[in-house]
Amino acid sequence: MNQYRIAVIPGDGIGPEVMTENVRILQTVAAIDRSFSFEFQTFSWGCQYYLQTGKMMPEDGMEQLRSFDAILLGAVGYPGVPDHISLRELLLKIRHDFDEYINLRPVRLLKGAPCPLKAENTQNIDMIFVRENSEGEYSGQGAWLYKNSPQEVVIQHGVFSRKGTERVIRYAYELARKERKTLTSISKANALNYSMVFWDQIFEELGKEYPDVKTSKLLVDAAAMFMVKDPKRFQIVVTSNLFGDILTDLGAAIAGGMGLAAGANINPEHKYPSMFEPIHGSAPDIAGRGIANPLAAIWSASQLLDFLGYEEWGARIVDAIEKMLAEKHALTPDLGGSASTSECGKALAGILKQLS
Ligand SMILES: NC(=O)c1ccc[n+]([C@@H]2O[C@H](COP(=O)([O-])OP(=O)(O)OC[C@H]3O[C@@H](n4cnc5c(N)ncnc54)[C@H](O)[C@@H]3O)[C@@H](O)[C@H]2O)c1
Repeated sequence: MNQYRIAVIPGDGIGPEVMTENVRILQTVAAIDRSFSFEFQTFSWGCQYYLQTGKMMPEDGMEQLRSFDAILLGAVGYPGVPDHISLRELLLKIRHDFDEYINLRPVRLLKGAPCPLKAENTQNIDMIFVRENSEGEYSGQGAWLYKNSPQEVVIQHGVFSRKGTERVIRYAYELARKERKTLTSISKANALNYSMVFWDQIFEELGKEYPDVKTSKLLVDAAAMFMVKDPKRFQIVVTSNLFGDILTDLGAAIAGGMGLAAGANINPEHKYPSMFEPIHGSAPDIAGRGIANPLAAIWSASQLLDFLGYEEWGARIVDAIEKMLAEKHALTPDLGGSASTSECGKALAGILKQLS
């Protein structure tokens, strides 16, 4: 039997609420399958920990996580701790220090999920975003000069290395080849005359090695427009850290909302643990009420199963989510239902048992 050690960081706000259901689903799957099992260890790091210790995680936090097979994260950030601290010292630190340079975000409209687009545009919303996750606009480089003076200047660098740019674009080409799908690169070379010209150049260079992959290129502003007007044109999409961050929230909006949007932070070489999370935040406005939608977190558990090589289970979880949406069964208030977080998670576990 394969045994996997999973580090669990529930985090803040609704993070712990959705994490309970995420763990429930993974335990359910393991109990049905019996060829693998999970050992979970919880780390109570986040804003509460920060208020007590002045740090989002202990000094040796990364070392503690290093030996795990994967990490599950709920959400981080809470009023009382500045967002740039909570995000940068926990979530972004793990992504960066564990070289999780691929952020995989499915944007797939399941049957029954709410969609704000006109009916003719809701067919075939089924894309996978491959977002650069380790450098680019989020590299944290820059300067704050003449602070608090009339001459104040801030400089925020975007850092695009050849290694970093090539590896994410190559990953996207490989994925498109494997899945026999088209690949769209999204950039902004007309305005960002260094970074995005470079990005486009590398996309073209690598394309020569993948003549079988049908490609297209879009400016980020046009891409945002087409995601609303003609989303079926997108299959595999590769883009930078910032553009991917923004466009996948738009993707979440057209594919059922934040309660259904998941993301995987992957270190493809398996040198470090990869991390799986819903893309929503800690939702302080509904935290503690037991009404958070756990399906995004659970979708990220399906990505974990894909990553560990149990793609059949990954697909079964997404099918079970689709069944609940189509039958309007045990949905939380954000999806028009009246179920609690735990009723929703338990119902999904029940469907998985029935399907098996
Ligand atoms: N990955 C992360 O950990 C992450 C991502 C985004 C924001 N944040 C942090 O979260 C905090 C709140 O940020 P925000 O309000 O901009 O974004 P948010 O995603 O927490 O909430 C936005 C809106 O969506 C709703 N929502 C989000 N997830 C939901 C769910 N699972 N079920 C039902 N409704 C849900 C919320 O109630 C809220 O109205 C901030 O501190 C921010 O920095 C963290």
